[in-house]
Amino acid sequence: MDRLLPRAPEVPLPGVVVLPGWLPPDLRVELVRRCRTWGDESGGPRAPRMRNGAPMSVRMLGLGWHWYPYRYSRTRDDGDGGRALPFPPWLGRLARRAVVDAAALDPSVTDDPAAFDPDVALVNWYGPGAKMGMHTDGDEVVAAPVVSFSVGTTGVFRFGHAAGRGRPWVDLPLESGDVVVFGGPARLAYHGVPKLVPGTDDPAVGDLPGRLNVTVRQTGLDG
Ligand code: SIN
Ligand code: MN
Repeated sequence: MDRLLPRAPEVPLPGVVVLPGWLPPDLRVELVRRCRTWGDESGGPRAPRMRNGAPMSVRMLGLGWHWYPYRYSRTRDDGDGGRALPFPPWLGRLARRAVVDAAALDPSVTDDPAAFDPDVALVNWYGPGAKMGMHTDGDEVVAAPVVSFSVGTTGVFRFGHAAGRGRPWVDLPLESGDVVVFGGPARLAYHGVPKLVPGTDDPAVGDLPGRLNVTVRQTGLDG
């Protein structure tokens, strides 16, 4: 999507910081390339089954830890049982830089940005029509912020509150290269992705069909 002016960083809710275009095109391309490799090395991203048995429309894979509803494991317990791929230190450093930038805009995201020490990345592939229902990121046992990198088709990121799935919420269109950091008062708020915006593919990332989102988190888990 062409823009005449760069979008400014914003703090749409306390503890939620959007850093538009924070990932430069070369890093977007590299992230897509790495995600493809991680997919090849782990038997491919797969659709986790929710408690009711229905598969999610988003396909996922975990680095550092494998996640499936609603827990972390070192092994792909709901798949081939293999060990989760290692969490890449470079991704942790990139995410920590995003936390530092976000905390400069809204210090409530974390007391100590430099202490952010993530140990898991969850890669989400959204094909055409995929979406993610309102949920909390509640399987981590420490209060560290969540860093979310988006590449490809624009996704609508719906961000609400901690009391439940319903309104009020804000709808934030996340374009390719946008980064969101949420923490502090927003850490346990419900959020989801109700839709992608057709026709917003990023030419910089070539033939990526749909949207790629990578969330980087600190679980606080041992083992
Ligand atoms: C998530 O909430 O885990 C993913 C959010 C997104 O795809 O932007
Ligand atoms: Mn989430």
